[in-house]
Amino acid sequence: MSIGQYADCKISQNQWDLDQVLPRNYQVPDSYLRTAPPGVLENFCRLLGRDVFSEADAGVLYEYLMVRRSEFSSEFLGMLALWLNDETKHYEALRRVYHGLSGVSYGTMDRQFRDRVHEIEPIVMVLQDEFTILVTMMFDEMGSVYSYRRDLREYYGHFGPAIRKVGQHLIQDEGMHFNNAAELLLHGHRDRLGEVEALLGRIAALEDRLGKYYKTFFLDHAQEQFRFPPQFNGVIIRVILARLGLGARPEPRELKALWQWVPEGCRLVPIGGVSDQ
Ligand SMILES: [Fe+2]
Ligand SMILES: [Fe+2]
Repeated sequence: MSIGQYADCKISQNQWDLDQVLPRNYQVPDSYLRTAPPGVLENFCRLLGRDVFSEADAGVLYEYLMVRRSEFSSEFLGMLALWLNDETKHYEALRRVYHGLSGVSYGTMDRQFRDRVHEIEPIVMVLQDEFTILVTMMFDEMGSVYSYRRDLREYYGHFGPAIRKVGQHLIQDEGMHFNNAAELLLHGHRDRLGEVEALLGRIAALEDRLGKYYKTFFLDHAQEQFRFPPQFNGVIIRVILARLGLGARPEPRELKALWQWVPEGCRLVPIGGVSDQ
């Protein structure tokens, strides 16, 4: 669809019905639980213990941005409403996967989410204005695409077609969010495209410096850095620049390494603890 005054701006939303893909009372067939490779179920549950809530943090970021809504274009606000709708669906989807695999109750998850402390201040640099938010969104969403690609192969894919399908929808939706942010930058902020590369460098440096995730949606990969090769952010930045017509797209083998890389001597990338939820 086109929104607002930008005639060729293609803001889109993937349509999929969570209840059809994974009903709330879905029981994971025992056979998958028994046949998953050793350690995969345990590691997947630890991973979900973080990812479930990072998706829900979108609501916190949205509320913060709505307080500032008078600063933003109607096109941006329209995109953000679709984005929140998807991220809220992702939260519910991951709750269902987590519940089905770990047995953690929905009430416990509600409580865990309520207990989270969300901090905007550490990431305020990326929230300066609509332009910096869109660039950060491209960075974050493309990071999620490759992160979920890895998870699909290492985890979601082991627990049957319904859970695999959830993983596939997550990848497609995060890709769409990346694309929507690109469209808004190309149509609404063309005059600032020259600033994108330097800003991306500052965003990546900030993520490095933070070293942890502050539970306000953006830069959540700060908690996952050990799962990705050292060149991860550099390649993601080149994907963004290419989408905006500012550089060449990385080679297919470079993109593949983003989700297939494993540290030397490991069969799978270690998951790490969940101490910081
Ligand atoms: Fe998401
Ligand atoms: Fe997203």
